[in-house]
Amino acid sequence: MPDAFILGIESSCDETAAAVVRSGEQVISNVVLSQIATHQPYGGVVPELASREHLRAIVPVVRTALAEAGKTYQTVDALAVTRGPGLAGALLVGISFAKALAFALEKPLVAVNHLEGHIHAVLLEERQKGNHEVAFPVLALVVSGGHTHLYLTQLKGQGWSYLNVGHTRDDAAGEAFDKVAKLLGLSYPGGPIVDKLARHGDPRAVKFPWAQIKHRDRRVGGGNLEKPAFDFSYSGIKTAVLRYVETHPEIQQGIAARQGLAKSGRQPRKVEEWLAVCDRPTLDLIASFQRAVVEDLVGKTLAAAREHDVATLFVTGGVAANSELRRRFEQEAARQGIAVFFPSLRLSTDNAAMIAAAAYPKFLAGEFAEPDLSAEAGLVLR
Ligand code: KG4
Ligand code: ZN
Repeated sequence: MPDAFILGIESSCDETAAAVVRSGEQVISNVVLSQIATHQPYGGVVPELASREHLRAIVPVVRTALAEAGKTYQTVDALAVTRGPGLAGALLVGISFAKALAFALEKPLVAVNHLEGHIHAVLLEERQKGNHEVAFPVLALVVSGGHTHLYLTQLKGQGWSYLNVGHTRDDAAGEAFDKVAKLLGLSYPGGPIVDKLARHGDPRAVKFPWAQIKHRDRRVGGGNLEKPAFDFSYSGIKTAVLRYVETHPEIQQGIAARQGLAKSGRQPRKVEEWLAVCDRPTLDLIASFQRAVVEDLVGKTLAAAREHDVATLFVTGGVAANSELRRRFEQEAARQGIAVFFPSLRLSTDNAAMIAAAAYPKFLAGEFAEPDLSAEAGLVLR
């Protein structure tokens, strides 16, 4: 197969990213500019601010990715860009730039689904390690700030096919981490700080009366192959944490103190500083919340893996960076004889290397973007 250097561009949410990847198997450069500082005061991504920041960052980020790869606009073989899903205005910045660049350079442009990108982050890194032996079909859990989706992933000729066999009915798991962190006066995004603080609390301290989805009223596949779907729901756990806080004044005091620090620009940065402003009941609540989400994700994903008879699991997306999630998946998958793969921490959260990697099979197949390519905020993966 011919070698190809693909320049990937990603701008679907709050990271402006560009990367050069060789033939879907080697990261040559990977630049990610996070907008966390811009959105931090609002405790969530503000779409208008995201578009503005992408506009500012896109040219320097792409130039840096090329320079770090020792490449120029002329010496890459193709461009790849995220078509969706994501914030329409944010996506448009990357798409407009990539289209103009491809047109001016007379290079092919490949449009990539962001979720397919997260799945290919795992494949890219396994190939980079020399592992070409992944057994298909794979069950991929894409778990991020916007998604909690299970895809049965098959090789189909040079390309791939994806069957959605489960998704969240309301909030994504990452959204629950972000909302609970905001509620508790912690920093944005919530996942990383909850992950670090949860290690200092008792995960069994708080039992949540949380209505998880246990019934299976959706079926997928069709015909004789029809199987139940495995759906998720994380808005209930957020409300359960809120109810718990409302009945525990000592936790409310801590929240007010942390919010005060944030308002006066003295929000802690290091874990030790956070620990100094989080009491025992708060740490126990954080650890119990994380445990509830992790056990739900691990339990349902492994049940889906058994039902759909897969030998391989991929766990990818921002929440896949969670240390407890990784530990529990590794433990349970080993017990059940299923191989589980994660991307490195750097490629778990949004990046453009995954977009360039997912574009490679499409590049080989000549599946290029139409000239009228536009953002698709609600793009589904098939
Ligand atoms: O994939 P990503 O960078 O962007 C989306 O496509 O959404 O995921 C971001 C999400 C945020 O909700 C963030 O809180 C969560 O991933 N996240 C984590 C961790 N690191 C990031 N959640 C739990 N534990 C972490 N260590
Ligand atoms: Zn993502």
